Amino acid sequence: MNKQSYFFVLDGVDGSGTTTHTKLLAGYLENKGYKVYVTQEPTKSDIGLLLRKILKDTEIPPTTDALLFAADRDFHYNIEIKKKLDEGFIVISDRYIEASIVYQCTQSEDISVEWIKLINKFVGKPDLMIILDINPEISLLRKKNNELEKFENIEFLKKVRDFFIKRAKKKNYNIVNSDDIIEFTQEKIQNIVMEYIKKDNTNRNNNN
Ligand code: TYD
Repeated sequence: MNKQSYFFVLDGVDGSGTTTHTKLLAGYLENKGYKVYVTQEPTKSDIGLLLRKILKDTEIPPTTDALLFAADRDFHYNIEIKKKLDEGFIVISDRYIEASIVYQCTQSEDISVEWIKLINKFVGKPDLMIILDINPEISLLRKKNNELEKFENIEFLKKVRDFFIKRAKKKNYNIVNSDDIIEFTQEKIQNIVMEYIKKDNTNRNNNN
């Protein structure tokens, strides 16, 4: 039997289109007959809502950001994602732990990758990570100044982008350039996902 539950994550620098591509990917997989559950971080829980407020406040220490993102994720994974995986859904999350590693480590030199991993210790790992890449100078142009959150400044986001790519190369995550026609970018994402599912099914069948 083919396993139908997978945990996929789309992440990347602000403006790289994680939300758009998560939704498009979900539609594509649903059309193929898969049960799909779409979710995002920050979540819609009370912790996630608090985070949304805090994202506009430059006084909040980066360590508080990191701890709240970790709490939001702990709740997210253990209450929501795990349940959907157990029910046989493909879960696609718009952002996950990689965002904490990259954004919070970029925010402060006192924050290490190891510490972020430690405070996120009780959440499950994604089966597949896709990092969308775009030059923040291009993506921020699309936003109005009064809509910007505290992370949305070019110098900060350039560092975030570089760190996403550095980590993706080290960890062998898939990198997709999203500075392209949406349909082209989406097609690349779909190919990566279908390849993964195909390979996983082949391995499973060979082991039976
Ligand atoms: P984002 O996906 O941009 O939400 P939206 O598109 O709805 O505004 O996420 C909000 C911001 O939070 C974004 O700048 C990335 C940041 N972030 C972190 O710093 N750490 C995290 O762990 C997560 C999940 C997001």
